[in-house]
Amino acid sequence: MKTAILITASAASLLFAAGSLKAADAPANPNVDEAKGIIKQFAGQLQSELKASLDNGGPMKAVTVCEKRAPAIAAGLSKSTGWDVKRTSLKVRNTELDTPDAWEKAVLEKFESRKAAGEDVKTMAFAEVVETANGKEFRFMKAIPTQQACLTCHGTEIPEEVATALDEHYPEDQARGFSLGDIRGAFSLSKPL
Ligand code: HEC
Repeated sequence: MKTAILITASAASLLFAAGSLKAADAPANPNVDEAKGIIKQFAGQLQSELKASLDNGGPMKAVTVCEKRAPAIAAGLSKSTGWDVKRTSLKVRNTELDTPDAWEKAVLEKFESRKAAGEDVKTMAFAEVVETANGKEFRFMKAIPTQQACLTCHGTEIPEEVATALDEHYPEDQARGFSLGDIRGAFSLSKPL
């Protein structure tokens, strides 16, 4: 049996879909707090390295930083925290590492309908306990909004030299054509319970 937890702005506003608790009475979920902490580290480290490389070497240097550092930071955090840490999207660039599984795809599709219904992408998240062949897993996803700085490599007018570099490294790249405020993808974390 699945226990679905819909998450809005903070852990205090958890809605227990299957339980009788009202949002205000819901206890903070330590797994959600832990996952959010890991995402903060991932996003913080990646953004500072991305910004530094854009400032110092320009977008071509930054492509290499994204290519090498994003998977490395995710792998490092997976190792140090015991969670499986990744990013995913409905339109992926790194098809090898970031292609969504069925659960992630369903959550990303729900994120799109939640956005269409007016919800703020910045705080959009979802958590669920799922049964797997190896027992229960806690899974958590947090949406990633498209910001101005992302458009150089994910937007509709990608500079030609950047597009060429992306073509070379990611021949199956789908992660282009995004606009400001779109859901670029999501962080996806899981751990065995
Ligand atoms: C300099 C180019 C560049 C910029 C700027 C950039 N990205 Fe990326 N992005 C990449 C590359 C290259 C990858 C593939 C790296 C990987 O994760 O393996 C990627 C992958 C991703 C992924 C993982 C899913 C996928 O498609 O493989 C997400 C999510 C993402 N980027 C979000 C963002 C966001 C949000 C911003 C702005 C804050 C941003 N990117 C800015 C180049 C860039």
